[in-house]
Amino acid sequence: MNSNLIIPTHIGIIMDGNGRWAQERGMIRTMGHKNALKTLKALCIHMADVGVKYASLYAFSTENFKREKTEVDYLMGLFIESFKKEFKFLMEKDVRVVFSGRREPLPKNVLEAMDELVDDTKDNKSLVLNICLNYGSHAEIVDMTKNICELYKEGKIKLEDINEEFIQKNMYQDLPPLDYVIRTSGELRLSNFMMYQASYAEFYFPKVYFPDFTEEKFDKAIIEFNKRNRRFGGVKK
Ligand code: FPP
Repeated sequence: MNSNLIIPTHIGIIMDGNGRWAQERGMIRTMGHKNALKTLKALCIHMADVGVKYASLYAFSTENFKREKTEVDYLMGLFIESFKKEFKFLMEKDVRVVFSGRREPLPKNVLEAMDELVDDTKDNKSLVLNICLNYGSHAEIVDMTKNICELYKEGKIKLEDINEEFIQKNMYQDLPPLDYVIRTSGELRLSNFMMYQASYAEFYFPKVYFPDFTEEKFDKAIIEFNKRNRRFGGVKK
């Protein structure tokens, strides 16, 4: 990649289109998720190599529990397999993993695999990979509000302590705002993904299903980001 390009500090990726990718090939939907994992591994290596500091991945939304039990079970199995085996490469790349989302009602074996991965990678210093699993923006805001009310009730904070910095620190993870949100598959929606954090993000909607979102396609997304004129509510330069 051209070294003059600005690399967004925090990139969010909505990994959409796995089901359609499989169905268009006459395969069952879950094969799309299996192939998405290969794409995801290559992409994580690439993002670490090009110097992305934070990447948030939408792996499973709070609403995804409404899917067929067979698909939900397959995804839970894929998460366990990934976190226990497939993600060993993260250590070599010095990637730290954190999770955003509600623990309830995730199965115990998924939670154990998540906790183990967080612990194994906690001292890594390159890319921070924020995996949004059983995640929803609405749930995050509800959970944050409850936590803040508890702190207030216990006399640990005063009303004056609540400002934007405090809100960021009390989200599931204390991460900088999103600079760039990429949603594959051509759908033009945020679908309850990091709404607060995406307030000034640039958006990119490539017409490619996630399993086909290669490193080259990611590089094209970065070139597109470099054409944007970010003003954050200010005037055009
Ligand atoms: C959305 O596509 C994708 C998901 C709900 C699952 C994402 C999971 C992975 C990328 C697998 C590996 C992830 C990790 C973190 C190990 P869709 O199924 O909604 O596709 P469709 O819109 O074509 O139906």
